[in-house]
Amino acid sequence: MNNHLDFESDSIEKFHKIIREYLSKEKESSDPIHRQKLSKIFHDYIIQTEDESYTINSPSFGGKVETMHNSNGAITESFEKFVKPFKESYFLNNNIQKDTDFSYSKDIAILDICSGLGYNSSAIIDEFLKNKGKNSSLSIDLAEISIETLAMGLLIPSPIKNHDIIKKAIESKLIEEDFAKLSIEKTEIPENIDINIFCEDARKTVQNLPSNKYDAIFLDPYSPAMAPELCTVEFFEELKRLIKDDGIIATYTLAAGVRFAFIEAGFYIGEGPIFGRKSGGTIASIDIKNISKNIPIMDERTIALSDAGIPFRDQNLNHTSSEILDHRVDERSKARHYTRISSAVQTPIFLGKEIDDEKLKRRVFRNLNKVNIPDSQSKEAYYIIEPQENHYKEPSIKFNSKNRIIEMNKRLLNVIKDNTLN
Ligand SMILES: C[S@@+](CC[C@H](N)C(=O)[O-])C[C@H]1O[C@@H](n2cnc3c(N)ncnc32)[C@H](O)[C@@H]1O
Repeated sequence: MNNHLDFESDSIEKFHKIIREYLSKEKESSDPIHRQKLSKIFHDYIIQTEDESYTINSPSFGGKVETMHNSNGAITESFEKFVKPFKESYFLNNNIQKDTDFSYSKDIAILDICSGLGYNSSAIIDEFLKNKGKNSSLSIDLAEISIETLAMGLLIPSPIKNHDIIKKAIESKLIEEDFAKLSIEKTEIPENIDINIFCEDARKTVQNLPSNKYDAIFLDPYSPAMAPELCTVEFFEELKRLIKDDGIIATYTLAAGVRFAFIEAGFYIGEGPIFGRKSGGTIASIDIKNISKNIPIMDERTIALSDAGIPFRDQNLNHTSSEILDHRVDERSKARHYTRISSAVQTPIFLGKEIDDEKLKRRVFRNLNKVNIPDSQSKEAYYIIEPQENHYKEPSIKFNSKNRIIEMNKRLLNVIKDNTLN
């Protein structure tokens, strides 16, 4: 998701204003015509993706705008990046063979963080209804900070039929919040599906939810540069409290700082399904069994060794995005050459390698020398990357990305501290 668009745009902010105006008119007049007009105007703001479902732009953040979904297919992204990993973990936890007839015979609880237009929730509803057990239920909690975005979820042409169920829940929420008045949506929410919407900062929501509740958490914020508050160690510690021991968190991001934050919060991490780009996002779980694919070898090194792996922090879950970003810039610059290798020219990926290009070699060696590593093929270099000798395709309790990252990080600190290898 999140294709960066480098043009100034105030259009979504403008549409937020139009939404407020028209829904106020609906409240005053109780006439459905205002919502109909609003839906028509909305057509100027929606963007079709390759699977024909629609997305919209984010509000502008420091002049940058992102689309809410992947241009390769907004609703396909929901199935591929969120539903698929959940389904895999459900199969694993319940000993169900792939490609067999099955039904969801256990109750399922999902937390959809940054629910936006409700695509991810509608995709899990679709999956559940297609494979419903006789007596099982699906409970979904959605957290979305922007009431206007919720309203857009109500106005957007549904990408799949079951999105209408989410529309019904959104409409009820807008009425409850006194943001809209009329109950127009006809689709009913099935009895065995329970949908709760929290319209607030997800950092607040998670602190009020019960422990050990969720089978899966879908974490779908904008990029860490725009929404670092939902990628911090402290936020992930809250998610750790909420997730069941055999549950999974799925997120599209593969940023080194985010992955290290998951590890610091106590999760195993792995690579998620690939959709619309070369690499997959991230799957995090307390249970290694739920991690089916290690993250790539060079990504492990970057996370463990370079200052790019310094995580985002938000000690009391109340800092602004800018404060979190500034704090990390500061922490990175303090760590660079002292506790971490510089991320410049991707230095850690050259450990154990011969470098032909003389200019590059000089730069890499300069960065390595600052942390007591004489050169890229020195015994110190091999000592640090030695844990990666056991980088098998599939993770195990002993050999997995988390353990290797922690061990390489520790070994780098040993080398920096006193240059004695033991
Ligand atoms: C990439 S979009 C999510 C798309 C969404 N999952 C869907 O299915 O349409 C990110 C969403 O996060 C919301 N958001 C941003 N900051 C938030 C926060 N602190 N708490 C909750 N939601 C937030 C935005 O309003 C936006 O709707």
